[in-house]
Amino acid sequence: MSTRVLSGVQPSGVKHLGNYFGAIRQHLELQDRFPGECFYFIADYHALTTVQDAEALRESVHELAVTYLALGLDPDKTLLFRQSDVPEVTELAWLLATVTGMGLLERAHSYKDKVGRGLPASVGLFTYPVLMAADILSYDATLVPVGKDQIQHVEMTQDMATHFNQTYGKGNSLLHRPEFRLSDAPYVTGTDGHKMSSSYGNTLPLFESGKKLKKLVGGIVTDSTELGQPLEAERCNVFALLRLFAAADELERIREHYRTGSRDGTAFGYGHAKLLLGAHIERHFEAARGRRDELLAHPERVEEVLRNSAVRARATARATLDRCKHACGLR
Ligand code: TYM
Repeated sequence: MSTRVLSGVQPSGVKHLGNYFGAIRQHLELQDRFPGECFYFIADYHALTTVQDAEALRESVHELAVTYLALGLDPDKTLLFRQSDVPEVTELAWLLATVTGMGLLERAHSYKDKVGRGLPASVGLFTYPVLMAADILSYDATLVPVGKDQIQHVEMTQDMATHFNQTYGKGNSLLHRPEFRLSDAPYVTGTDGHKMSSSYGNTLPLFESGKKLKKLVGGIVTDSTELGQPLEAERCNVFALLRLFAAADELERIREHYRTGSRDGTAFGYGHAKLLLGAHIERHFEAARGRRDELLAHPERVEEVLRNSAVRARATARATLDRCKHACGLR
C-alpha cells in the first residue's frame, strides 16, 4: 500500500515550539516526500471539548491555517482543511464507538491528565480518541506524524481498526492500520522543564519576537549557579531548547561554555545561554513571521485553501464511510 500521511492540530491555545518541532515541522518535510498524499487538518471538533466561545474558536482556526501556510505548507501538494468540513468523520466515529470497549478509553492518559487538572469530564472529552481514530481511518492514512503525547491515541486507533475489521470485515481490511511517526524532538520541554503545553502556561510561541520573547525566554527556569561557575548542560532547560536550533558544532561550543563557565575568557552564565536561544528563535521564524503578516491581510486566500482541500478530503472520507456502512448492514 502506498503511503498516505495524516495529522491534525487543535486550534485552541497559542502554537508553540512543541507543536512545531514535535509535529508541524515533520508535516512540512513529508509534503515533499509524499506530494499529493499529505492530509493535514485543524481539529476544531476536538477543540470544542475545551473552547466554548464561537468567535474565539473561529479566530484560532484561521490563525492556525495562517500558521501552517506561513511555515511553508504548499497547498498545491498538500491538503489543509477544517475537521468540521468533513462531517463524515463524526459518522465513522459512531460506527467505531460501537466496537470500542469502555476499558480501552478508560486507559487514555490524556483523558486522565485533563480530568486530573480539573477539566470537566464531558462525554466528548472521554470519547475524544474515538473521533481521533475516525480522523485517521477516514482517510486510509498509513502514517501519522505526531509528538510523543499522541502515541497512545494512534495505538488506540490501531485497536479500533482491528476490532472493526474483525467484526465486519469478513477477512477483508475495511480500515487500514496506521503507524505513528515521531520527529527527532518528540517531547519538547517548556520554560519550567515539563512538557511544553498551552494548558501548562509554559510555552514559547512560534511568532513571538522582541521584548516579549526576551521576557519569556528570560523566564526559563534554571538553578541558581553563579555566573562564571561550571554548569550542567544536560540538566539545563535552556540547553534542551538550544538543541532544537543549534547545529552540532555550535552546540558543542555551547556545551564547552557550560562545562567551563566561560566563553572567550569571560564568564558565561544562563543569561548568555538565554540570549543565544532568543536570537535563534527570532531568526528561525523570521521569514515565516513576514509571510504570516501578509496572509493575515488576505483572509480570503486562506479560506480558499481550506475550502478546496475539504472537497478532496471529503470525497476520500465519504468512500471510507460508504464501505463501512455497507459492511455493517446500513446500506
Ligand atoms: P495537539 O493540538 O495537542 O498537538 C499538535 C501536535 O503537536 C504535538 N505536540 C508536541 N510535540 C512535542 N513536544 C511537545 N511539548 C508537544 N506538544 C504538542 C502533538 O503530539 C501533536 O502531534 N489529538 C491531537 C489532534 C488530533 C490528531 C488527530 C492528531 C486530532 N485528530 C488525528 C493526529 C491524527 C492533539 O490534540 O494535538
